[in-house]
Amino acid sequence: MSKETLGPRETWATRVGLILSMAGNAIGLGNFLRFPGKVALYGGGAYLIPYFVALFLLGFPLMWLEWAIGRHGGQYRAHWLGPMMYLITKKRFNHSTAKIIAGIFGGLSLSIAILLNAYYTNLIGWVGFWAGMSVSGKITEVTEVSQSVGYLLKIIGDPLYNIIPWSISLIVIALIVSPGISKGIELGNKIMMPLLFIFAIGLLITGFTWRTPIKPEWDSLKGFYWLWTPRYEMLKEPATWLEGAGQIFFSLSLGIAGIIPTYASYLRRDEDLTLGALTTASLNEFAEVICGGSIAFTLGYAFGGELPIGMVFVDKKSPFFLAMAVYPAFFGKLGSTGAVLGTVWYFLLWFAGVTSAIAITNTMVEFFSDLGVKRTYGSILSVILMFIFGLPIVIEGSMTIGYDWGPSTTYLDFTDFVIGSFLLVVVSLLETIFAGAFIWKDGYEELNRGGLIKVPKWMWKIVLSIIAPIYLIAMIVWLPMSTRIDAIIHETDKPLEWLGPAMAMLSLLFTLIFFIVGYIVTTRVIEKKYAQIQV
Ligand code: PHE
Repeated sequence: MSKETLGPRETWATRVGLILSMAGNAIGLGNFLRFPGKVALYGGGAYLIPYFVALFLLGFPLMWLEWAIGRHGGQYRAHWLGPMMYLITKKRFNHSTAKIIAGIFGGLSLSIAILLNAYYTNLIGWVGFWAGMSVSGKITEVTEVSQSVGYLLKIIGDPLYNIIPWSISLIVIALIVSPGISKGIELGNKIMMPLLFIFAIGLLITGFTWRTPIKPEWDSLKGFYWLWTPRYEMLKEPATWLEGAGQIFFSLSLGIAGIIPTYASYLRRDEDLTLGALTTASLNEFAEVICGGSIAFTLGYAFGGELPIGMVFVDKKSPFFLAMAVYPAFFGKLGSTGAVLGTVWYFLLWFAGVTSAIAITNTMVEFFSDLGVKRTYGSILSVILMFIFGLPIVIEGSMTIGYDWGPSTTYLDFTDFVIGSFLLVVVSLLETIFAGAFIWKDGYEELNRGGLIKVPKWMWKIVLSIIAPIYLIAMIVWLPMSTRIDAIIHETDKPLEWLGPAMAMLSLLFTLIFFIVGYIVTTRVIEKKYAQIQV
């Protein structure tokens, strides 16, 4: 079968829609909350050195590679990573070897897709809770930090508070994904992304101009300087380098279940790829470094002084915790102005999260579509799976809510580590090997075809295919060594001391099961559908 006989396929309707969707995919909670937390803990301004080194040596090259893998696959109607990698590796290896390689990609993608979105959409629900409290004005009743912390405990530990905003978010996600690429995803991003940028720039300006709304000594600029003052000694710590690179992956959505390749598979054969990928990555960096790097701490300092800073730095609580447990009281105290600010801030976060989560859901839909499941049913099935495999978060929270050490979130934190920090690096490494210059001989031509700018050959041959894999191997070895896994597993006391380790095991077990299922399905689907295609 040649690609001319494969029939029609979906494509992006407009260039703007494509870029906004790709940016929506990348720009997420990671940009506005994970990034400032890393900057705070790993050297302030000095963190930008490992961060930008990783952006140039890993971020941009892998972004080009993932777009190329995707556009190539799309020409053969392959819309998720497993079959895409089969079509690439088949040019070099025999059918069975290519099938095994593709199976590994398919298995990793399925595991990552379901389990990452299981907790990520749950977090979107937390954000949604505060978005709801803000638009309804109820946030003005929350004026003390103890009150907003109390709400967070309820969000984690009381199924009602958790499941309602989470389910609403999942339903919205399914509704956006089910009409398809141009009518659903593109439209959703064309609405949410401009709002996201307007909100982000609005908050940015507020943070820098409304400097002392509460007390003259709580000057928002102090929060900004505190975050960015470089501490060069941190550059000696391997963790700083690991965290710099890890953030690049998470933030650009690289290695995340092949969601960038899936979006790129809806490009036309000769449509520009090189400039598109660069634009997406640059928009992500603008949202992250400029907006994400300013908003959380200028506002935090202006409204709360040293408190938020101490919580991040001394108590090692992430800005996500601040945003969910501390900031609501700051907004609440400001009355109706606070309700407006809160609405802008929490909807910004909610849009950021939803536009990323729909990318994963869409990849799952493509996976199911190869099993004959229609898009609408595939969307519903995907969000149901995310719900089921996110439920341990709610169960763990409600089991531990009554204890003074609770509620605990081991399942969430452990999955975030295994999937959100580790496995995406593994997928990226495998991509640089199996779709790198040594195996994908015509990959460089595929990358540059139709390109509005030209990616230099050394970028492909040396940076992407030699330096990046070495960098990634170092990360894979280092990450488990330098991470205190025991610190991720929450300590729970009697009578539930078994709970933390059990939740971590459960997360690992699910990861393994989905890997195996994904592997088997990928190899089957390849036999049935892709083996006959001539590449
Ligand atoms: N890039 C996203 C972020 O910064 C990560 C992500 C992508 C998470 C897709 C979930 C789904 O938050």
